[in-house]
Amino acid sequence: MAVEFKLNGKAVRIEPAPGESLLDALRERLGTTSVKDGCKPQGQCGCCLALVDGQPKVSCATAVDGCGGKDIVTLEGLSPEERDMTARAFVEAAGLQCGFCIPGIALRAKHLLDKNPSPTRADIAKAIDVHLCRCTGYGKILDAIELLAKMRRGEATPAPVEDGRVGASYARYRGRELVLGERPYVADITREGMLLGALVLSPHPRARVVAIDTSRAAKVPGVRAVATAADVPGERWYGLLYKDWPGFVAVGEEVRCVGDVLAAIAADDEPTARAAAALVDVTYEVLEPVLDPTVSVAAGAPQVNPTHVNELSRSVIRRGEGNVDAALAASAHVVSGTWKTQRIEHLFLEPECAVVEPLPDGRLALYTQGQGVFDDRRQVAAFLGVPEESIYVELVPNGGAFGGKEDMSVQSQTALLAKLTGKPVKLRLTREESVRLHPKRHPITMDYSVGCDAEGHLTAVKARMIGDSGAYASVGGKVLERAAGHACGPYRVPHVDVIAVAAYTNNPPCGAMRGFGANQSSFAMEGCMDLLAKKVGIDAWEIRNRNVVEVGDIFSTGQILEKSVGIRKTLEAVKGAYYAAKEAGKAVGIACGLKNSGIGNGVEEWGKCRLVVEKDLTVSLYNGYTEMGQGLLTILIQFAVEVTGLPPSVFRPKVDSTFALGCGQTTGSRATLFAGRAVTSAAAKLRAELDQGHALGDLVGRVYAADECIDDTTPLGAPGIRVKTHTSYGFATQLCVLDADGRVERIVAAHDVGRAVNPALCEGQIQGAIHMGLGYALSEELPCVDGMPVTFSRYQLGILRARDMPEVEILLVEEPEPEGPFGAKGLGEIGLVPTAAAVAGALEAFDGVRRTQLPMKDSPAARALSVGRIRSPLPRESWR
Ligand code: FES
Ligand code: FES
Repeated sequence: MAVEFKLNGKAVRIEPAPGESLLDALRERLGTTSVKDGCKPQGQCGCCLALVDGQPKVSCATAVDGCGGKDIVTLEGLSPEERDMTARAFVEAAGLQCGFCIPGIALRAKHLLDKNPSPTRADIAKAIDVHLCRCTGYGKILDAIELLAKMRRGEATPAPVEDGRVGASYARYRGRELVLGERPYVADITREGMLLGALVLSPHPRARVVAIDTSRAAKVPGVRAVATAADVPGERWYGLLYKDWPGFVAVGEEVRCVGDVLAAIAADDEPTARAAAALVDVTYEVLEPVLDPTVSVAAGAPQVNPTHVNELSRSVIRRGEGNVDAALAASAHVVSGTWKTQRIEHLFLEPECAVVEPLPDGRLALYTQGQGVFDDRRQVAAFLGVPEESIYVELVPNGGAFGGKEDMSVQSQTALLAKLTGKPVKLRLTREESVRLHPKRHPITMDYSVGCDAEGHLTAVKARMIGDSGAYASVGGKVLERAAGHACGPYRVPHVDVIAVAAYTNNPPCGAMRGFGANQSSFAMEGCMDLLAKKVGIDAWEIRNRNVVEVGDIFSTGQILEKSVGIRKTLEAVKGAYYAAKEAGKAVGIACGLKNSGIGNGVEEWGKCRLVVEKDLTVSLYNGYTEMGQGLLTILIQFAVEVTGLPPSVFRPKVDSTFALGCGQTTGSRATLFAGRAVTSAAAKLRAELDQGHALGDLVGRVYAADECIDDTTPLGAPGIRVKTHTSYGFATQLCVLDADGRVERIVAAHDVGRAVNPALCEGQIQGAIHMGLGYALSEELPCVDGMPVTFSRYQLGILRARDMPEVEILLVEEPEPEGPFGAKGLGEIGLVPTAAAVAGALEAFDGVRRTQLPMKDSPAARALSVGRIRSPLPRESWR
């Protein structure tokens, strides 16, 4: 039955499908893309907000057939002045990162400010309470709405930053379009005749596939292709480090987790594709899953993945004269214990999506949100059995990733469907499918013994770790390697003995997630520091003061730290706040942390750039790394501006396969360092020509190239005189202060960023990471029963809302990194490395309980949160 309503002042008439949501009607029928799909049909993220008769509604949970006669407003319907003001407020306050959540929040701000032109900060936090932002930590969003309120009231506001050089808080690249929902994400791309895809996933964590019958699905009207393993013309197995992950599981093979793909459908529309997917009949012989990593590596356990034994990796660090046990025995004080961390879901706001389009020249165009688009291209080409050159790839900057978009998700299946049908195909995961499919942060169990002398100087660290890597290798071995490498924190330790094992299981795969192993070992090591301080009779600040590394000291991997070691400066930066809080009788915890910039460990790494002067006198800035909300493209412009002296508006960042700029994954906090080096180097070549008197117009068509290779790191444990496991390290010290009820009142975070290329973006990265770190500490987890997550709800997964966030004070410390561009180093991950340990220390100061397991839900700080209670685990009958 037809439904008529007004959309942004214009009458529209549509004939919706039964049960169709307002969101689908707005996006798919009416081309309104400011409403985003973050969790349809959960209604839990706020990305799809629309005003219905003036009331804010999550459009994914609003039936369109109930909207007859209503007046519906989205951001597109605001007046030009209001749109302009809204965009300026968010951009000038740096109140956005990936931007996926922002249009919904911006519309919520309009609704609030129409009713209450002068809201308090608490009013604003309350208003945006149903909105999830996984990037910002909300602080700068609150700043943006406060600024917008001022603008609307006609009050004076600070002038926008026009300076695009290094050190200025220059506006985010394409920030205005992101705020207004105009800059497309992959799911916003449409093409004439485009088909929509859907996947069939395994409901079992371990089972043998006896048969796959697609006949019923293929007969559904509107279905154009049904693909299974039998249709893959090339290499069906892929993976970043090992080819152990099949794009489709074939008949006769085992499924290894509940995210395994059995079939893919392409149809005229998504509901048809999903209906057909439900009709694919798969016969399984269900097998007993391997769910415990310790059981997995014990003798007699069934092999989880046919390509590799269950012990995926073993990282060993042994350093120091003599035996670590003897060193511990000779120590004045020793603490020992077991620390456990949990599996964590990234919950980036934009679910995985790919678009693949046949091009007139016979190539396929792959539009991807991946963290390494050239790796995506390589793996898709191998999957299809075609040369890489026959795939054009383009990054569509994504709506958050945090490590979760390094591995392949739907790119290969989408490409296969496009190849089979000869038509453009879009395949997008639901939130539930997304959670089932992509790798998580590892749960790691860590046995630690740490010794010190009578004055509190560390003598030895012995650690044994085992991490659950789930069904596929992903980069799990490297995560445990990094956990081992960071096992001693930023401290001088003469005797080190660490073994870290990654194990396959039939749980969801684990791989890269912000922190990459450093968070886990930091929680354990910093806990040991607190316990030792008590034994020595000094406070938690002082024991760190006696042990932090300086230039010339040896890091736990054996690397001599030769430069840019800012840990003491960060410790000094928080000293006043630490003792002031103690003086005031507050419970306060402190933790230090460090995180590598660059993959290192002997891996050859690249930064690549091409600057191309275009006819319109813009300069295309090609690089190989991914923008995912961290602000990479903005700071690359700033490097280019600083070197060339050209205005920032000249530069147009691009990531595609016009040039062969494959640098690998945007991982390991390395893009600032390596892409920045390449951009500054290419920009210097352009500058040299400008300095010779050439105008930009004289240089049209010229290409300025820089390929920077970093190949001087050494593998973990490699014999040799000079150990250099990483190019650079970021350092941090954080304080957690509790209120009288044991709630987190304030976080103070001092971070050595080398050089703050864009201070507002630096703060945003740290604030967002602290938001994740507090969730990690107190509420976030992804528990699984028999290999299946027990919930897909944002609230039950424990992601903090705006109301749950404490005050966060950021102190930027600059200890220039000589190998980084203008002294900069990476800071994407370190923001949450010390957070959980600082919270644990504060909690012990509050109630005397030392907590050694995350999340610390048994604490007053966790009980005060509005999220993290798993009230309704999914019943097994609902597994599909
Ligand atoms: S609330 Fe509608 S998409 Fe998340
Ligand atoms: S900016 Fe809010 S989710 Fe990325």
